[in-house]
Amino acid sequence: MFSRNNNILKVLPIITVVLLNVLNAQELHKKAAIEDRVNDLIVRMTLSEKIGQMQQSQMRGNKDNLRNAVRNGLIGSFLNAGDLEDKLEFQKIAVEESRLGIPLIYGRDVIHGYKTVFPIPLGQAATWHPELVETAASVAAAEASEAGIHWTFAPMVDISRDPRWGRIAESCGEDPLLASKMGAAMVRGFQGKSLADQNTIAACAKHYAGYGAAESGKDYNTTWIPERLLRDVYLVPFKGCVDAGTATLMSAFNDLNGIPASGNEFTLKTVLRDEWNFNGYVVSDWASITEMIAHGFAADEYEAAFKAAKSGVNMEMVTRSYANNLEKLVEDRKISEEWIDELVKGILRIKFKLGLFDNPFRLVTDNPETLSDKFRETAKKISVESLVLLQNNNMLPLADNIKTLAVIGPLADDAESQLGTWVPDGNPEDAVTPLAALREYAGNKINVLYSRGMETTRTKSKDGFDDAVETAERADAVIMFCGEDALLSGESHSRAYINLPGVQTDLIKAVARTGKPIALIIMAGRPLTFGEIKDDVNSILFAWHPGIMGGPAVVDVLFGKASPSGKLPVSFPRTVGQVPIYYSHKNTGRPPSEDQLGIEPGTPEDPKGFVSYFLDVDYTPAYPFGYGLSYTDFEYSDLKLSKHEIKMGDSLEISVTVSNTGSYAGEEVVQLYVRDLVGSVTRPVKELKSFKRINLLPGESKEVKFVLNTDDLKFWDINMNYTAEPGDFKLWVGGSSDAELETMFELE
Ligand code: BGC
Repeated sequence: MFSRNNNILKVLPIITVVLLNVLNAQELHKKAAIEDRVNDLIVRMTLSEKIGQMQQSQMRGNKDNLRNAVRNGLIGSFLNAGDLEDKLEFQKIAVEESRLGIPLIYGRDVIHGYKTVFPIPLGQAATWHPELVETAASVAAAEASEAGIHWTFAPMVDISRDPRWGRIAESCGEDPLLASKMGAAMVRGFQGKSLADQNTIAACAKHYAGYGAAESGKDYNTTWIPERLLRDVYLVPFKGCVDAGTATLMSAFNDLNGIPASGNEFTLKTVLRDEWNFNGYVVSDWASITEMIAHGFAADEYEAAFKAAKSGVNMEMVTRSYANNLEKLVEDRKISEEWIDELVKGILRIKFKLGLFDNPFRLVTDNPETLSDKFRETAKKISVESLVLLQNNNMLPLADNIKTLAVIGPLADDAESQLGTWVPDGNPEDAVTPLAALREYAGNKINVLYSRGMETTRTKSKDGFDDAVETAERADAVIMFCGEDALLSGESHSRAYINLPGVQTDLIKAVARTGKPIALIIMAGRPLTFGEIKDDVNSILFAWHPGIMGGPAVVDVLFGKASPSGKLPVSFPRTVGQVPIYYSHKNTGRPPSEDQLGIEPGTPEDPKGFVSYFLDVDYTPAYPFGYGLSYTDFEYSDLKLSKHEIKMGDSLEISVTVSNTGSYAGEEVVQLYVRDLVGSVTRPVKELKSFKRINLLPGESKEVKFVLNTDDLKFWDINMNYTAEPGDFKLWVGGSSDAELETMFELE
């Protein structure tokens, strides 16, 4: 027996090697097969058919014209194509009636769920839980592929440090590492193990690049990002998505350092193709090629098409500058047909990878899971983990003996708003609002009273106040739902005031005058400023726009079925005048100190020294990046490093003990930050380097370990080399970017 086992043990490595070789060979064969098929196809295509592949159209207008265009090989992709029947019909024309039978690829904005709508991406980022975000994206992919969609225009990984910008809702926040982890998780979730699987869809990392840095947070505005900052911060999550295998990217609308992103050879060619070896394809954002005319970067469509194609934009969304000009550009020898071939190959490659040539309809028919209980459960879990407890003065979780609860506010029962921005396929009827979930939970144990108080978050009338106040007076405790309607965030929905709109502040104050304890739930697509009411309420729970299961998620947290564990993916300012405010800023030559703290917001105080601060508000944020409370308390101790001096190429092990010293079970996101004290160029005061989500029972302690290697310390130095520099580093571990436990190490 022993010797038989022994023999197996001996041959096992050989079998494994052989198997691995077979698998590798299969993989290589698959890859080779795709390249061969791409090469074989491209030589058979006419220039007009090639340019056809580069056109993405809407399925709008005269259908017969569109049918003919597809038949003649003049359209390679549709976005927002109609219902399933339309998609099947047009695909049939493409594969059966066009000369070469090249299938169409259908793209759509599946941004945070298809039918099962999850929290907005900024809320998902607040979970700091990439594996869960990956699962959510895989659910979205399964549902979208059931509807005949092959490709989503997500994830959006624009670093956003400006809450005025409406699209911060779609982003993963301010930090390159967090956004990179989240973006990569979404790519993996959408694309699964293989793009050819029927329940996966191609991802699209957008908007490449720099779009989130719009001046003054006004959408589509100019961006100025020096190359070092671009590479150290803004490009990082795109690299993360490319490394995770994103099939496509989208070139952005913005003017980046004087060169619009959709005609930017530096980002699209030098960085993306030459440095990162990306070989999928880039689609322009909606009309972003022809908008280069308004930017003043191209005189006409001919020049716009020239600049975009030359930079490497493979496919044009909606507008037709390629369709109308590329042939002429080749004829005029401005662009070579070989370069057009390269661009088209990128598109064909992805169509082959998706298996569209072998299975053009790619439909999952045997397992329609859309909106299944399992998917809803995922939606609830991610909503729960996205909730950030900002303040809690002895109110939450709600006591069991509550008899009467008043539910007040314009967002307690607004199914549409809780879905958030960018949900073309989400239905409010599928959402469970907080009011519905509370009533369900209460059954006949708790009497739930409801007063909307205001019609929408923007209402200016106080007509509903009396009813709200009377309702509060009849209750033991009040739960208020305020914030922003969904339509106040998203594309071209920037705000110059980021307070609670309408008369919500007055409503909260009026209800507070009853003296009843208030838990305020804020639902919004961006960080808001609400300092003026924070002392009027006991607890503040920030819920983003939490998706269809937002109601049950909030109820679980209100009643302590789950302890809040979300952490802010973006700093919350005290006032819009502090914007941009982010934790990884530079130190300046005159950093402020505690002497400049404690300033009452609004009225300038006597000057407190010639340092970098404001006379009329503290220089610190209202709530820092990484912040979020729990019902329990976590204590950090025993921060240990494997060594305090490391050499280039070494790795450093870091361990810390986290203890749950409170009386609830809870989850904590343990965060590791580093500061490079002196550099050939100035370095940020803190940078997130790693994080881990752990759970702890009351009284339980866990040792949490991290490994940093010197690659994690790299940045773009004074000579624009990507390198780590010798010197002293500070290191912190804790539950927010204000982590207190610190130590030092030296890179020799
Ligand atoms: C947006 C993109 C979106 C595209 C297609 C554009 O206006 O900027 O994010 O994917 O439309 O709907």
